[in-house]
Amino acid sequence: MKNLFTLKDLSVLDIQEILDEALEFKKGQKFTDLQGKKVVNLFFENSTRTHYSFIAAEQNLGMVDTNFNAASSSVKKGESLYDTVKTFESLGFDAMVIRHPQNNYFKQLDNINVPIMNGGDGTGNHPTQSLLDLLTIYEEFGKFEGLKVTIVGDIRHSRVAHTNIDIMQRLGMEVFISGPEEFNDGSGTYIEFDKAIKEMDVIMLLRVQYERHGYEIQLSKEEYLKNYGLTMDKVDIMKPHAIIMHPAPFNRKTEIDDDVVECKKSRIFKQMTNGVYVRMAVLKRAFSNE
Ligand code: CP
Repeated sequence: MKNLFTLKDLSVLDIQEILDEALEFKKGQKFTDLQGKKVVNLFFENSTRTHYSFIAAEQNLGMVDTNFNAASSSVKKGESLYDTVKTFESLGFDAMVIRHPQNNYFKQLDNINVPIMNGGDGTGNHPTQSLLDLLTIYEEFGKFEGLKVTIVGDIRHSRVAHTNIDIMQRLGMEVFISGPEEFNDGSGTYIEFDKAIKEMDVIMLLRVQYERHGYEIQLSKEEYLKNYGLTMDKVDIMKPHAIIMHPAPFNRKTEIDDDVVECKKSRIFKQMTNGVYVRMAVLKRAFSNE
């Protein structure tokens, strides 16, 4: 059994193996060993892509999926995360996918004896999002070494940024951050957005996570779009081969203009498609003993 809590636990070779497996699933590889295995998806935070692409991955593998509803559960009576997870283990579930607002929530789950896949913890880790981002980049360029990426926007509140900065550097990419100073948490080398647009192979935009701020940000949506948002006039000065990524959901007309979302350079919906294959690979790995 193999948990997937954070990509920090995986070597570069482990990452490459997951991506290779995901590519095999994308080519149509069949895998029947997990048929009938019971998996419960416990999302304590809202999600569309991660939750439903895990469901698609589980169904593609013939697994039996159950979806936990925290709002109608005994969490509302004060039951702890550990006791909730231990309950699902006791009920005979074979695996769990968990998203939770607490950073590193998984550190309290060492005593659980079924594989757990992290669907995102607070502002900490989002391993399967990074894996699908990496798959999308690998499909585009056939390599990681030497590629230049700038992650733009609400770095401070982004588990996607925090996960990607670390793993992309380990894979030999040159990683920069950009965006408003109030979102710069020092987790990467800062580059001016106008310079990044001209020089990068990948521009990765982030959602402004208003719900995590607890305060009013300094820029209006119009100011944000003008200064740090991607508009078609900026897309036009990107390198010919460069691509645009965003984990989504996106704030249209804030970090990304309407006509950029599905422009020729955008890989945003391809990222979502790749999420299903990456999650199939992660589920297969969870039950592997190698
Ligand atoms: N990218 C991502 O994690 O989206 P969801 O919050 O919809 O799962």
